[in-house]
Amino acid sequence: MIDIEFVRSRFIKHFDGKTGNVYTSPGRINLIGEHTDYNGGFVFPGAVDKGITAEMRINDTEDTVMAYAIDLKDRVDFHLNDPAGPKASWARYIYGIALEMRKLGVPVKGFNIAFAGDVPLGAGMSSSAAMESCFACGLNDLFGENKVSQWDMVLAGQATEHNYCGVNCGIMDQFASVFGKAGCLMRLDCRSREFEYFPFKPDGYRLVLLDSVVKHQLAGSPYNDRRNSCENVVKHIQAKHPEGKFETLRDCTWEQLEEVKEEVGAEDYSRAKFVLGEKDRVLAVCDALNEGDYEKVGEMMYKTHEGLSKDYEVSCVELDFLNDIAKECGVTGSRIMGGGFGGCTINLVRNDLYKQFIETAKQKFNAEYGHEPKVYDVVIGDGSRRLC
Ligand code: GLA
Repeated sequence: MIDIEFVRSRFIKHFDGKTGNVYTSPGRINLIGEHTDYNGGFVFPGAVDKGITAEMRINDTEDTVMAYAIDLKDRVDFHLNDPAGPKASWARYIYGIALEMRKLGVPVKGFNIAFAGDVPLGAGMSSSAAMESCFACGLNDLFGENKVSQWDMVLAGQATEHNYCGVNCGIMDQFASVFGKAGCLMRLDCRSREFEYFPFKPDGYRLVLLDSVVKHQLAGSPYNDRRNSCENVVKHIQAKHPEGKFETLRDCTWEQLEEVKEEVGAEDYSRAKFVLGEKDRVLAVCDALNEGDYEKVGEMMYKTHEGLSKDYEVSCVELDFLNDIAKECGVTGSRIMGGGFGGCTINLVRNDLYKQFIETAKQKFNAEYGHEPKVYDVVIGDGSRRLC
């Protein structure tokens, strides 16, 4: 986690010398359940021990935000009442969440903020959700007497992505960042929003992320296109079954998908097929975890990777390459994690294979792409909170 004193020293230096309150929110991993959140399905995330830490203080202006992104060494000042908002993409998260918190009744006025992060950008670990949740937590505390519920903060983060950042994401990332608990994964039903904490201590195994350090832009079309495909399939199924209520793919069966196969076209069909399979895989993984059957968990992870790569088409050559290396090394489970188009694979690996796997992956990836993947050992940490 980022050192509080590091953030504080920059906050003091860049503003008026006074200190504020410090808040932090984590990034996330996801064991299984990818692209299921906006389809009303299940996800299985956990918060990590890396995230965003921000110092914030009310500055007694009506609507002036003075913001400093420590890692980028970039300062942006803007007005909350300016309908255009700031241009810098990182500042739009601050602007967006502040306006969304206002919609929830929090009387947000001017404030100063400096923040830093150790959750890698573009690695599929949700640095953006970590920002939204961290800033929401701070604004709720500074201006809102902490009256906004955790779920409302999750939704405000999601609305920030939709309304100010151009990504029509689901709720998994913001949920994990707000509700995370050390040592626990969480199974969330994205339709009912019920969730359960699952202590995760796989005896003899560990989770490790391999970051391809490839970043393909998620904002805009590729992610939103996938979502549109899913919604299109639901529309066709609904039209065929006017008597039923089909809101998301969660409500649809394999038979119903087959019925619309021709009319929706090959691409949308394949995408929906992945989502229906993934919905079942999350539940199978829960059962396997309850039985301590990690080999089964791993098998599901490989299936997910295949589906994400071939049917959902959100992988890339570098991630397929890392997945192949995992298979060759006898790693229990491996798959692309998060939205896709770059970032990390998540690997469930037996302790005795760990060292050899990491060495092989580094060496082979380097030989193919000219740089080593980054390695992050997963430590499951706590959700959003005030530090001081
Ligand atoms: C991104 C989105 C999430 C989710 C994942 C894929 O991280 O923000 O809502 O859809 O992709 O599972």
